[in-house]
Amino acid sequence: MIRRLVFAANWKMHLGPGPASDYLGRFLAATPPRDGRTLLFFPPAASLLTVAAALQERSDARAGAQNIHWEPKGAFTGEMSVGIAQEAGAAGALVGHSERRHVFGETDQQTGFKVRALLAAAMDVMLCVGETLAEREAGLTEEVCLRQLAAGLADVAPTQLPQVMIAYEPVWAIGTGRNATPVDAATVHNAIRSALTERDATAHIPVLYGGSVNAGNAAALLAQPAIDGVLVGGASLDPDGWAQICATEA
Ligand code: 13P
Repeated sequence: MIRRLVFAANWKMHLGPGPASDYLGRFLAATPPRDGRTLLFFPPAASLLTVAAALQERSDARAGAQNIHWEPKGAFTGEMSVGIAQEAGAAGALVGHSERRHVFGETDQQTGFKVRALLAAAMDVMLCVGETLAEREAGLTEEVCLRQLAAGLADVAPTQLPQVMIAYEPVWAIGTGRNATPVDAATVHNAIRSALTERDATAHIPVLYGGSVNAGNAAALLAQPAIDGVLVGGASLDPDGWAQICATEA
């Protein structure tokens, strides 16, 4: 059976519409669709339309927003609703990325609001969880990740779970060049998987790893059966390098 894998690029605050268009021209030419592989791009909001248009012919690839607000409209300067993201071509969104949590103070409760707003609009959710270095050193890794998971998925019906993906991104591994060993990551993935199975044993929810993934370590991470894909920041910004990672044999 072909293994299903998800390769997700989080461009963070890089690649405006012009560079995004050039990037995708190059990347898509180098990356033909492959059975069982899904490609996701999370560009800055201003590039969503461009990215979604560039991916239109590719049923294996989708664009998503990096963040959304849970309210459908209103006086929320600087925020983007689910409806606006959808109109700009987003099929889903990241929720609870560590930078949202730790730089912008997003709470567990807010991640739950965002997840429910996306699911209500039949959009995909990539819920991100992960511990800080202090939490890891205090032995709290699984407790923190499972708490974030439970808060993010609060009041989510089992029928909505197929719209959800999880990304385990240890905060200390993001952008630091330090990544969890494949075995350490798989341990956390297995704990997340058990919690998901308790909710619904039948829903297959991909659990991705993120945090300093690059062309040199992607194969070892994806060799772990518990790791269903990767969510990549820095190493997704170069189209050739990202094409190489998306071609990883696993
Ligand atoms: P890096 O791949 O740059 O460590 O970022 C990971 C990340 O935050 C993806 O969402």
